[in-house]
Amino acid sequence: MVTAYKHEPLTDFTMGENKLAFMEALKLVNTQLGKDYPLIINGERMTSGEVIASYNPARKTECIGTVSAANKEYAEQAMQAALKAFSVWKKWSPEARAHILLKAAAIIRRRKHEFSAYLVKEAGKPWREADADTAEAIDFLEYYARQMLALKDGAVVNSRAGENNQYTYIPLGVGVIISPFNFPFAIMAGTTVAAIVTGNTVLLKPSNNTPVIAAKFVEVMEEAGLPKGVLNYIPGSGAEIGDFLIDHPKTRFVSFTGSREVGCRIYERAAKVHPGQIWLKRVIAEMGGKDTVVVDEDADIDLAAASIVYSGFGYSGQKCSAGSRAVIHEKIYNQVLEKALTLTKSLKVGNPEEAETYMGPVIDKKAYNKIMNYINIGKTEGRLAAGGEGDQTQGFFIQPTIIADVDEKARIMQEEIFGPVIAFCKAESIDHLLDIANNTEYGLTGAFISKNREHIERVRKEFHVGNLYINRTCTGAIVGYQPFGGFQMSGTDSKAGGPDYLLLHMQAQTISEAL
Ligand code: ALA
Repeated sequence: MVTAYKHEPLTDFTMGENKLAFMEALKLVNTQLGKDYPLIINGERMTSGEVIASYNPARKTECIGTVSAANKEYAEQAMQAALKAFSVWKKWSPEARAHILLKAAAIIRRRKHEFSAYLVKEAGKPWREADADTAEAIDFLEYYARQMLALKDGAVVNSRAGENNQYTYIPLGVGVIISPFNFPFAIMAGTTVAAIVTGNTVLLKPSNNTPVIAAKFVEVMEEAGLPKGVLNYIPGSGAEIGDFLIDHPKTRFVSFTGSREVGCRIYERAAKVHPGQIWLKRVIAEMGGKDTVVVDEDADIDLAAASIVYSGFGYSGQKCSAGSRAVIHEKIYNQVLEKALTLTKSLKVGNPEEAETYMGPVIDKKAYNKIMNYINIGKTEGRLAAGGEGDQTQGFFIQPTIIADVDEKARIMQEEIFGPVIAFCKAESIDHLLDIANNTEYGLTGAFISKNREHIERVRKEFHVGNLYINRTCTGAIVGYQPFGGFQMSGTDSKAGGPDYLLLHMQAQTISEAL
């Protein structure tokens, strides 16, 4: 019997003892920097000779670690290991599989700050964001373990006289997991264990920006008792092994989180049936967003400003859920903008290792250049009201930026920037607010700030996003409380951390016996 699911509480860093414990964890991780992490295939450590070096985005010269990069031969070896392990792992009872997740959650909980400290160093996450990422990783383990227990006997179907019918869920096969840098622990672990607990075996290709935290997680899964070959760790370049694994006839499904461009490419490639392939591949894709905080005529001004600023600038705007557009009723536009500017200017930007930092760097040079380019575009599409400056001497720092008075069709209102940039746009009525809110090709998150009950009820029906938040930020979904995933070009409409998610990794079987 397991206890009821409850999400992992966030750490209160105003308490001196927590602050000290986190500083100790940072010190510990500082003693571990620069290590080499081999590939893990069939439980064996393999050094490929090719390496991916992971650097601290806040201190460009600091190497967090180097990981071996897999080429096609290693990827093929990992596929064969995963195929072999599948024949055994699929026969493990759902309970036994779930127990491994619960054990892993307990191990991570005991070393929580150590994992968060890696996230500070490798992903440039401020303490609060790092702590939330680790808590979410624990949540995924705890939640999916319980979901598997709930699904283990299948679903009820009717039987008739003289006939016994059974409806159960069985695993798919080998899954390729491609995970992002922005939730390098939570999404990497969540997508991996959803596949594993349902009886599949996995080839994990983490983001090349954050492969070390993934290596640490694989060690935890081994310690928790996961049999060899079930989870194979194969970092590598998309060009070298990504396409190879997507195209591989033995790949049964792909679980991808990342950009729209790469997601669409995977979706298309996975549709092609290759010689020797005897199934249609399944793709679970979580892609981008162009998410909006919508502010109604009678909204609380402080709440509106805070919702905009924290939705837009948390983890430097590098969340698919980030509120990168504020659409505000013209009657209170100036007031909300003023408050948002004051709040933005009070945010501490700097080294994420310092407890007071609200916003650290963006992930790498490529991201820095892309975001700075969008800021330049924004300057021609509206009025630069805050930020706009970047500094890449030590790390990839960009000031929280607000571009005001932007047209609803402007590029910075339509294209995902994935950085600390918010476009402000005016609307003249609730109809107009809703029109703008729905005018992108995405459909991931959105927030509506209002005191008008009639408008709130209307927005519930008409704001077409996978995660709609009322009178709060549009980021920070909690596993099991706010299942997360979007519509349209935001992905395949899957909901991570929700009651249907595990089903995407299984196929249903009907067995009917004549009595
Ligand atoms: N699940 C993350 C959030 O809700 C992306 O912010």
